[in-house]
Amino acid sequence: MKGLILSGGFGTRLRPLTYTGAKQLIPIANKPIIFYGIESLVRVGIKDIGIVVGDTKEEVVKTVGDGSNWNITIEYIPQETPLGLAHAIKIARGFLGAEPFMMYLGDNILKDNLNDLVKQFQKNQPNALILLTEVNNPQEFGVAVVDEEGSVKKLIEKPKEPPSNLALVGIYLFDKEIYGAIENIKPSWRNELEITDAIQWLLDNGYRVESQTVKGWWKDTGKPEDIIEANLLILQDIEPDNQGKVIDSTLNGRIVIEKGALVEKSIIRGPAIIGENSRLSRAYVGPFSSIGANVTIENSEVECSVIMDGATICNLENRIDRSILGRNVVINQINESPRTHKFVLGDQSYVQIIK
Ligand code: G1P
Repeated sequence: MKGLILSGGFGTRLRPLTYTGAKQLIPIANKPIIFYGIESLVRVGIKDIGIVVGDTKEEVVKTVGDGSNWNITIEYIPQETPLGLAHAIKIARGFLGAEPFMMYLGDNILKDNLNDLVKQFQKNQPNALILLTEVNNPQEFGVAVVDEEGSVKKLIEKPKEPPSNLALVGIYLFDKEIYGAIENIKPSWRNELEITDAIQWLLDNGYRVESQTVKGWWKDTGKPEDIIEANLLILQDIEPDNQGKVIDSTLNGRIVIEKGALVEKSIIRGPAIIGENSRLSRAYVGPFSSIGANVTIENSEVECSVIMDGATICNLENRIDRSILGRNVVINQINESPRTHKFVLGDQSYVQIIK
């Protein structure tokens, strides 16, 4: 079975972070989101992965490479314009051939492994197998109507009035019938060939579509609060490890300190990760924090946040909480006159200040 990972799109809801980088490369516990998808596919024995890339192609190729890190092969399939998930399958047909394949949306993170999904697909050989989960905001996803036996009856993409709270998770298994379905659907109101419509076409034309429900947690990391939440969920299971230097500090809970990091006169409460060559001095790093590489935190407090490589946080009177700082961001508090705020913020940056 081959794998297809989608890593295009504009990531508009994650601006300004996505002005300078692909959303699939945003780090969760210091690892790009897309790596979690690749590793899920590798764990079920997939050795051939195609990654559909858009405008951020160069950066994705540079970060992910040719697959040799995981002993697999990775091929890149450029998508000129993000015309939908079904369009991505269409352009990947040459790579996929006639074999069944797993499609994985590069911004999704799932706790479960995908063994049961693959087993059900191999045993029952449906034309499509989809993964579902209950959500509170079904209008933001593809939604499924399922009967008592678990057979899929109907699928609708982002319905205004959702007929159920079962969302389509971004992981799908297909056989070659999906290509015919895609040929027969029209672009949606958002001018995309929707995978949901292609699967509905399979249902309407007598093909077999089965479903499975997610047991653990699942996150589509489309919005800033999803990044914070995914980071929290991943850190929950982190394996403690200390490869840095800790001086005169208090460490509680599950903590990873990467190579070359220096923690002095500080308190870290896990779960947390401190990246390579970062420096914490008179700092407090609270639960669910991911501190990237080459970060400086001095005389300041950070909790439940994602701080990316090269950031500097100095002398802050108040704690940073549930925040995302991009690469090389500097936040520094001064106590001299004039006591003014000074900002250099990219478009759509967000700042909240308390008195
Ligand atoms: C896509 C699919 C949607 C699915 C979601 C899961 O939405 O169209 O059916 O529920 O992924 O992440 P999009 O990310 O394109 O808004």
